[in-house]
Amino acid sequence: MFIGAVPKEVVGQVLATVPFDAWGNVYVGCSGSFRFDRAVKMRHPECRVYSNDVSLLTCSIGALAMGREFPVKFKGALAFVEPAIDGLDFRGRVAAVMVAAAMGNFTGKNEYAQVHFRHYREHFRTFVDQALPKLDALVAEIKIEEFYAGDFLEQADRAENSGGGMACFAPTYKGGYERIYKLVNENVEWPAPKYGIWNPDSLPALIVSLEERHIPYCVISDQLLADRTPTTEWRGSNKPVYTYSSNQAASLRRRLPNEVPFKYTPVEPAAITAESKVSMCVVDSKRMTYLKNVYLTKGIEHTTGQINCLVLIDGALAGGFIFAQTRFGDKTRELYMLSDFAIARERRLSKLIPMIATCREVIQPINRRLLIKVEYIVTTAFTTKPVSMKYRGIFELDKRTADHLQYQSAVRNQSIQDVFHEWLRKYAGQGGKPDRQGQAARAEAAGEECALHDAAGV
Ligand SMILES: C[S@@+](CC[C@H](N)C(=O)[O-])C[C@H]1O[C@@H](n2cnc3c(N)ncnc32)[C@H](O)[C@@H]1O
Repeated sequence: MFIGAVPKEVVGQVLATVPFDAWGNVYVGCSGSFRFDRAVKMRHPECRVYSNDVSLLTCSIGALAMGREFPVKFKGALAFVEPAIDGLDFRGRVAAVMVAAAMGNFTGKNEYAQVHFRHYREHFRTFVDQALPKLDALVAEIKIEEFYAGDFLEQADRAENSGGGMACFAPTYKGGYERIYKLVNENVEWPAPKYGIWNPDSLPALIVSLEERHIPYCVISDQLLADRTPTTEWRGSNKPVYTYSSNQAASLRRRLPNEVPFKYTPVEPAAITAESKVSMCVVDSKRMTYLKNVYLTKGIEHTTGQINCLVLIDGALAGGFIFAQTRFGDKTRELYMLSDFAIARERRLSKLIPMIATCREVIQPINRRLLIKVEYIVTTAFTTKPVSMKYRGIFELDKRTADHLQYQSAVRNQSIQDVFHEWLRKYAGQGGKPDRQGQAARAEAAGEECALHDAAGV
């Protein structure tokens, strides 16, 4: 019935290696047959599972599982379905979608396909009656909190907002599911969600985006990514299946030759006051890689930028940003921000870091070093949302595509301390919970002391 379901063995590997119980809220991207969604609930009944998809087949089953329904009307090449299922309720229509989706495999012009299509058509109601008990059994197993019909990238936003994690089973080839579901998509009227066609080449960027937002994740793919160590690998079918997950530190973390550990104190967001002193310092790429391995991902070799900066509040680490010279724009006027991260979610610290990255006091030493005169900073946010919550209000949206937003900001004619006070006034609110990740990092951080250079030494 479903094409491209994640192999059972892979689901087993994922359940054995990812601490879904610690996530609490598990947001699934691309639920398909709900195989993973059902398995995680069975293994961890205390977890809350939130399913997602865009296909009529999965969305209609998701609606049934939630006790909802929506209009489904067969037309065109599937117009014959309407009289065949006359009198059936939404559940019967969902069973008809199951049968029609199976007929999608037989739309070819060859005789084999045509004979099968005709057989389905002539016995459609019999097929629907046979599908009904299977549908009931499936729905009885789907114990989810919510089903979201829409782009899976938006599940990441939900995971971030609820403090949960994201398990993602996105298509492995571009436009594949649109072809698989062509018959149903073109011949059924239903309130179909809008979504961006997923390009698997965007997978590394998606992982970085989840890491930058501190969203625990597990991503399944057939790609062996150049700079990452998969958490699991399965070679049972013609193509290997890998999973990449945020917890791989526990089992697979290895010390990379290009990371240099150092001691530092993570900031306590709740302790930040108007009297706090904020500074920026430059570190080499090996120390930045060490921090990115702690806060963004575990055990990978990151793309390094040319200038790696840390933001310190009262001497404690708040986050960092990485600049590279732009590849496509005007190198003398534009600087590309490869990455920016805050070490905690509280008090919208994630907005402070890119704000500081754009201030005159940070940019001037870079101008001197690279013999350029930067006027604006450009960066990319991977999301299907119309805006990025992080950059909203502090950068300007320059370009929007199906899966990313390009933002830019003019250099702020302000000092670091001025920018900090603006952030405090507009975004930081009052205090917050201590950051658990920061505490863990403090315990973890060991090794040689880092000489943090002054901004003036860029
Ligand atoms: C690889 S399958 C998911 C497999 C699923 N976990 C399972 O075991 O059955 C891909 C699913 O992604 C859905 N899909 C494709 N593009 C999507 C998008 N942009 N957002 C959400 N779901 C999408 C397809 O409809 C299909 O059901």
